[in-house]
Amino acid sequence: MIGSGIAGLRAAADLAQAGDVLILTKADPTESNTGYAQGGIAAALGPGDSPDLHAADTIAAGDGLCVEPAVRVLVEDGVRYTRELVAAGARFDREASGDLAFGREGAHGLRRVMHAADATGREIGRALWNRVAEQSRVRVERNARATRLLIRGGRCVGASYEDDHGTHTVEASAVLLATGGAGHVFRETTNPSIATGDGVTLAWHGGARVADLEFVQFHPTALSAPGAPRFLLSEAMRGEGAVLLNAAGERFMTRYEEAGELASRDLVSRAIVQEQQRTGQPIYLSMQHLDPAWVRDRFPTIAAACLAAGFDLATDRVPVGPAAHYVMGGVETDLWGRTTVPGLLAAGEVACTGVHGANRLASNSLLEGLVFGARAAQAMLLPPEAGRLTEAVVEVPGCQGASVPGEVPTEATVRDLMWTSVGLTRERSSLEAAIGQLDAWYAAITPGVVAGGLTAADWRLASIVTIGRQMARAALRREETRGGHARTDFPARDDVHFKVHIGERNSGAHGRET
Ligand code: FAD
Ligand code: SIN
Repeated sequence: MIGSGIAGLRAAADLAQAGDVLILTKADPTESNTGYAQGGIAAALGPGDSPDLHAADTIAAGDGLCVEPAVRVLVEDGVRYTRELVAAGARFDREASGDLAFGREGAHGLRRVMHAADATGREIGRALWNRVAEQSRVRVERNARATRLLIRGGRCVGASYEDDHGTHTVEASAVLLATGGAGHVFRETTNPSIATGDGVTLAWHGGARVADLEFVQFHPTALSAPGAPRFLLSEAMRGEGAVLLNAAGERFMTRYEEAGELASRDLVSRAIVQEQQRTGQPIYLSMQHLDPAWVRDRFPTIAAACLAAGFDLATDRVPVGPAAHYVMGGVETDLWGRTTVPGLLAAGEVACTGVHGANRLASNSLLEGLVFGARAAQAMLLPPEAGRLTEAVVEVPGCQGASVPGEVPTEATVRDLMWTSVGLTRERSSLEAAIGQLDAWYAAITPGVVAGGLTAADWRLASIVTIGRQMARAALRREETRGGHARTDFPARDDVHFKVHIGERNSGAHGRET
């Protein structure tokens, strides 16, 4: 198991009943995107809800590209696995009646999101760690960075990792990538610093196909104050009535989108940037019209973070702006987490099951990690097999990077380039320039990845360059605007040419056994 967020932990909990499980986790075991999740976990458990309604909202948000069998698995198994989570002791908020309380978030047709105040991921992590701790057959290696997959006879048979004591190699009957997201590829992000796309980089060098990496979700409301971290101001706040204001104190969202503040994230993010450009002033999120005691009680974690940056969440308007939040694409899998390399599975944010299509519905990713983590565990008990998306993926030829390697960049340089040229909006000439640069960096860095022994900082940089390059190449290929991918030179959705998933495989990895 590589990773100890919701996907890795849920898989480990089942697998340990069948054999020995080793969890490698590159930082403190609780440090993960899961640990920072705020708004909640969506599942069709509330009054008036059904898996069909949940599926319809998920598919609408996915903008024509959801793999519908994967969506059905998510919403149907989601009911079962969230109930199991509650039974395992996850303490979600309840109404005075004792029933579970459901929150509302953007693009959901009704209240569907279970939450533990504004620290839902921490509570889910606590419940899952308790389950895993009961299993004597689980060993956790902390501060252990997986740096290479072992590929033998075309199968994944283990991994190498590095820690303070050196390099280690472990063999395994199956390997699950549960390495989470890649927000740190971009200068502005809501993600913790562990989110450097390592799973995609490991899979790329192991020869597995990656898909849909042009689809990155930019959350509209990260704290945007000089010197303060880009702390997330949850969409659940807008679900509870928070409004977006320009510097003149006017609500502006309905001028851009009929659904106003609760339009899908890509649309709200772009509207914020347009209004910022129109006025030349910051944009604010405000709960000033709501009961201050209720605001502080419902959003205690966010209130504390705002206070540290000098804002009272209940009485001040808080400056916000978009930041990279979630990657819809990743390592291609089937409905059981199997990648195109037998023995290698992926679940959670690192995976591309196609369940989110071009844009993820809010609070569907904790659910994805839970459901597909559990399913991957079942598949890991079977003989190794290759999987693939249940919809055809158009494979484009992989490319080896520039023939003349460039200077090795700093991490900040790469993240700046990704933010300015492969960020919220994209267009051909800046994408082409970015790819030229990323190709040269990739050529400079890859020999070290293949040889092994890179420092933690260099491996991190290599991962950011590797996945960043794949994102930029994918963004250039997709000449349309769809979901999280916005091309200013192709502003419309083009179903004739681009209603397809596009994947790429590292041609240099073919035939190279590690
Ligand atoms: P993660 O939880 O990110 O775990 C990845 C693990 O892999 C970590 O343990 C990491 O250390 C480890 N790892 C990575 N690389 C290596 C390596 N090379 N070697 C060893 N270990 C490695 N989603 C929702 O559904 N609802 C929400 O309310 C919500 N709020 C969010 C708020 C914030 C601020 C953020 C950042 C995300 C939020 N999301 C939310 C998204 C969601 O939290 C993540 O998509 C989800 O938790 C990912 O889970 P995961 O198990 O795939 O990965
Ligand atoms: C949020 O609370 O706004 C984040 C929810 C998510 O990413 O699904």
